[in-house]
Amino acid sequence: RVAGPAALVMFGVTGDLARKKLLPGIYDLANRGLLPPSFALVGYGRRDWDRDAFSEYVREAMQQHARTPYRSEVFRQIDEGVRFVSGAFDDDEGFLTLAETLRDLDENHGTEGNHAFYLSIPPSGFDQVIEQLRKHQLVDKSKRTPWSRVVIEKPFGHDLASARELEERVSSVFNSDSVFRIDHYLGKETVQNMLAMRFANQLFEPMWSRNYVSHVQITMAEDIGIEGRAGYYDGIGAARDVIQNHLLQLMALVAMEEPTSFAADNLRREKEKVLAAARAPRNLKSHTARGQYTAGWQGGRHVRGYLEEDGIDPASQTETYAAFRVDIDNRRWAGVPFYLRAAKRMPRRVTEIALMMDAAPHLPFAHTDTAELGSNALVLRIQPNEGVTLRFGAKVPATQMEIRDVTMDFSYGASFAESSPEAYERLILDVLLGDPPLFPQHTEVELSWMILDPILDYWAAKDHQPEGYAAGTWGPPSGRTMLERDGFTWRRP
Ligand code: BG6
Repeated sequence: RVAGPAALVMFGVTGDLARKKLLPGIYDLANRGLLPPSFALVGYGRRDWDRDAFSEYVREAMQQHARTPYRSEVFRQIDEGVRFVSGAFDDDEGFLTLAETLRDLDENHGTEGNHAFYLSIPPSGFDQVIEQLRKHQLVDKSKRTPWSRVVIEKPFGHDLASARELEERVSSVFNSDSVFRIDHYLGKETVQNMLAMRFANQLFEPMWSRNYVSHVQITMAEDIGIEGRAGYYDGIGAARDVIQNHLLQLMALVAMEEPTSFAADNLRREKEKVLAAARAPRNLKSHTARGQYTAGWQGGRHVRGYLEEDGIDPASQTETYAAFRVDIDNRRWAGVPFYLRAAKRMPRRVTEIALMMDAAPHLPFAHTDTAELGSNALVLRIQPNEGVTLRFGAKVPATQMEIRDVTMDFSYGASFAESSPEAYERLILDVLLGDPPLFPQHTEVELSWMILDPILDYWAAKDHQPEGYAAGTWGPPSGRTMLERDGFTWRRP
């Protein structure tokens, strides 16, 4: 579907996210013919750029980071709708100019009064911008057409209480169906494919429960450190940065029941049910782990520890590794632990969900060597090398009955000629189309904080440094013992 006429106003346009993902995503949409000629892109920021300087910045970002090949005629089409407004978040004059710019685009460029405001800014700026949009009547809650939508980047609060405060402010200015909270994991093809796998097939459903699954491991490992994002990351940490949103969303999609349709409300309802049934572990001491990377070797390169990174408080207690167990108290999952872990400076970048199966009740072979037999597993590979792996035991040829693990793989690259769009490209299109299924709703955000808050409180109360782990390793010992206590070990992805 092609987006209709609209202006996208971007706050935080000079940030990393805008440069590397949002602007290139807009280019890719235009290149695929999914934006109308009337599309307009308005940057708002403190730089004293004129239109041409901004246009040059946009072009560079698109040329450098877009997925699809750069073509100057595509950029020229976008460029006709490019504008820049110079101002601070609390600057009335800036917002007056913004309002004027939008009026002009509506009348002379064909955006028809449809405006999306993209807040790719630190949470400290949310209040001001939302208040300015209200004050300068850039949003009219009583009108559905033309539309005004707001797009918010995480973090949605710091805990449950602050998430509720944020929601109160946002909803005082925007209707709930005009609020698009970004969780870019939901824009990933592989994440959407989980729905196809589970609900378009008969094969997996019978095993998708406590009847056959012994436990579930959800891993989001990154090889990068904090990459110049000290200001954002320090004080936030791995649990708030990616578990509260990405990993709990993945968990909800794996564990939920079948929605009656993929309409946003139906999908949301099922995710909410499973998040409401999920809880932090009873024993926080034994089933949570938190670490911080120290200097180490990664990919043949010596890298600094977290505390030595530029802009990090040398006494920082922020975790770069977080892992904990979640229990889901419902019929399908009672007694099946879900282990979530997320970390920076791991040996490699990999995100996956592994359903680990119960062992066969009995091995009916007289001479069996099962030394190399692990448990059967179904692994949803979110990235990289997107696909699905099924692991099971097979007989080693020419042995009496030696059994060893083998894998059966589906890989996107090998099965489809179509290339996957970048998550942000899909999500920006959905904002312009007003299509909400891939955006978490406030209740999901609240429920996720309810799972996380007891863990964060426990960590804060302990008030000591997270455990160190050398960069390039799989995390601190407590991350391992957490599973070993339950009789399991982490998969080596
Ligand atoms: C973001 C986090 O949400 O996701 C970053 O703020 C993290 O810390 C990033 O690096 C990872 O995204 P992806 O798509 O590369 O897995």
